[in-house]
Amino acid sequence: MKIPVLLLCSAVTLTWGVAVKQSRKFPDGFIFGTSTASYQIEGAWNEDGKGENIWDYLTHTNPAAIEDQSSGDVACDSYHKYERDVEMMRELGIDSYRFSIAWSRILPNGLANNVNEAGVAYYNKLIDEIVKYNIEPMVTLYHWDLPQRLQDMGGWLNPLIADWFADYARVVFDRFGDRVKYFITFNEGAQICYEGYDWVTKAPRLNMSGIGEYICAKNLALAHAKAYHIYNDDYKPTQGGVCGYTIAVSSFVPLTDSDEDAYAAELVNQLQWGLYTDPIFSKDGGFPKELFDLVAKKSAAQGFPRSRLTDFTEEEKAYIRGTGDFFGVNHYSGSFASASLYTPQPPVPSPKDDIEIGQFAPDDWPQAASFWLKQMPDSIYIVLKNIQKRYGDVPIYITENGWSTHEGIEDEGRVAYYRAALESALDALDEGINLKGYYAWSLMDNFEWMAGYTERFGLYEVDFEDPERTRTPRKSAFIYKQIMKTRTIDH
Ligand code: NOJ
Repeated sequence: MKIPVLLLCSAVTLTWGVAVKQSRKFPDGFIFGTSTASYQIEGAWNEDGKGENIWDYLTHTNPAAIEDQSSGDVACDSYHKYERDVEMMRELGIDSYRFSIAWSRILPNGLANNVNEAGVAYYNKLIDEIVKYNIEPMVTLYHWDLPQRLQDMGGWLNPLIADWFADYARVVFDRFGDRVKYFITFNEGAQICYEGYDWVTKAPRLNMSGIGEYICAKNLALAHAKAYHIYNDDYKPTQGGVCGYTIAVSSFVPLTDSDEDAYAAELVNQLQWGLYTDPIFSKDGGFPKELFDLVAKKSAAQGFPRSRLTDFTEEEKAYIRGTGDFFGVNHYSGSFASASLYTPQPPVPSPKDDIEIGQFAPDDWPQAASFWLKQMPDSIYIVLKNIQKRYGDVPIYITENGWSTHEGIEDEGRVAYYRAALESALDALDEGINLKGYYAWSLMDNFEWMAGYTERFGLYEVDFEDPERTRTPRKSAFIYKQIMKTRTIDH
């Protein structure tokens, strides 16, 4: 792992004979923000004409799937309390707020022939309130809450969905693009496709035995590209914004300097994010080569006459390539990758079987409330360098970064995590990485998917027992506010 020894040394100077650590500043124009997502905060699941989505359906039909049997029916009640949310943004002093639009709130059955004006009015009120205080809205079009009607027609496995999504995107650009200048089509491809269609950790929990993720990944890339072209051709010339794509990127570092471990780390990077972002950001487009060849080989060995991962046509490749104005990174954690440590054995076949690598996170790395979240040293620096190595100088926003705790407002662990993360971002900026902004996940506690309300990511604590859903700033909120105000991390 790279340890920026030189940078650490250069941050220490002698003043009057005393060693003083100098604070480094974030560059002018660097954007600080917070992130949320519609299903996790809005509530009002069936109000004012909103249609059912796959998370409504899952939590209502199978409550046991969620750790505390909860749902996002009310969540933070942001549908009614958005003014308080914006007040919190002002208390913090953020430059930008990233939130998502609930597809079925504005198109109840998912299709664009039926626009729910009450849903559009909600987002208009929210956006107006945000821009009134000079906060820049960043809008994610899809953060996992697919209209159930579209899922009934196959969801992300049905190739027609690329057009359904493009039609929805046009409505969003059309109605909100006058005030919104930052759009993100998708939040986290692997979590949509692998966890939803090849595993059971996200709705719709279809386990398609090693093929669902790959079909979904292809449809997602085409859907993204269609939406991007619509924005680029019909809206950007007059509205002047940008349209990007967000993906979860962990820091995988080869455990040793052997070629085998380097290959293991490369493969896991290709599977976690390259599968989704190579078609958009790589020079040649298309799926990552090693992964593509490996899946073909594995498929043949399993007796499939064709690979489970089918290629794009050359025309599709060209259509998708270059359709990202920026790269959004959701970053939380990392591990060492090894060719030989151990192979996680899921109980049923899954595409993860396509790469057999060991992952290892030392016991002395701090552990968050979420089992999957450990604090790896320098991990932001590592992922940003990996992205730069893969895609060159693409503009990058860290669209999520955060730490889970249990209830309580004294959140020392989160404070330490944010400080370390932002130091690591500064290390990358010092080396000329094109990092433009950083969004903390999350503005407030919210519905943490399968973990319900048992894991808390908020700068503000939310009292979910209280019908008012009172929000209280945690210690981390004050620290983040100070960092944003001074554009430095004080020591
Ligand atoms: C990434 C997801 O985008 C977000 O919805 C989730 O709450 C956080 N990770 C924390 O797990």
